[in-house]
Amino acid sequence: MHKIMSKKKIAEDIYKIVLEAPAVAAKRKAGQFVVLRPEETSERIPLTIFDSDAGKGTITIIVQVVGKTTKKIALLEEGETLLDVAGPLGNPTHIERKGNIAVVGGGVGTAVAYPVAKAFREAGNDVIGIIGARTKELVILEDEMKAITSELLITTDDGSYGRKGFVTDALKEVIRKITVAEVLAVGPVPMMKAVCNLTKQHNIRTMVSLNPIMVDGTGMCGACRVTVAGKTRFTCVDGPEFDGHEVDFDELTKRLKGYSDMEKHYIGHKGCNLENKV
Ligand code: NAD
Ligand code: FES
Repeated sequence: MHKIMSKKKIAEDIYKIVLEAPAVAAKRKAGQFVVLRPEETSERIPLTIFDSDAGKGTITIIVQVVGKTTKKIALLEEGETLLDVAGPLGNPTHIERKGNIAVVGGGVGTAVAYPVAKAFREAGNDVIGIIGARTKELVILEDEMKAITSELLITTDDGSYGRKGFVTDALKEVIRKITVAEVLAVGPVPMMKAVCNLTKQHNIRTMVSLNPIMVDGTGMCGACRVTVAGKTRFTCVDGPEFDGHEVDFDELTKRLKGYSDMEKHYIGHKGCNLENKV
């Protein structure tokens, strides 16, 4: 059992939750995730570890309500428990000192981008953060990102906050101004694809963190398969980060659409995507 130590709503349908998970907190590295099950009959959902505190034995996760199980987690209150938290899973991000690193978070993908940005910063890199959302109310983790970046650019699609446009518009500007050694992009698939199309033109290595459907999270079921450089890879054990210039994003889009209608039905409103790694 894993106790919820704190829960805070950070945007519409998005919660920051601190969970008791000492074994995970002791080992976890940036880029890794956990698979959670709130109760015996729940499906298992993968969520990135946003932060951890080994001393307190806690991990922090960001949960966006996108389906039945995330809704169940969001309805739990402080002091209540989740049945199991398996992890840390996946490969940690390869962190080294490279120079200027641009970390791009699209919407809820910012929760995945943050720990990697923090690790790059701690390794002595200059981290330029770019976070984008559809509108002002959906911009998340601005203060956290500001604290670990040398510059933070914020975009909104409707121009209600920061600059008007997509994260790719801000990235174009950054690439024009400075030499970027590497880009990390996390967010919706069309965003990661657009970032990769841009960086390919400039020959800038770009890593993406993928979020296909996961079931066991241990390489046994094959649900999370993606095609990278023409080869089938399992995101849970081979990823979650891959070289974005080699990912088949069109195939990933098709696979992600598989359950979206079902999730919309469960959650009961439009605009939700399938349940997946945040
Ligand atoms: P969203 O659709 O609101 O997009 C967020 C931002 O991404 C936009 O404001 C824009 O700046 C950028 N963007 C979107 N489409 C773009 C395009 N075609 N070109 C350039 N930039 C683009 O994001 P959301 O609703 O917060 O995200 C939901 C989606 O993100 C879900 O599909 C979810 O599964 C996925 N997601 C992925 C990860 C991951 O690990 N890769 C993590 C969390 C969420
Ligand atoms: Fe089953 Fe990756 S989730 S193989």
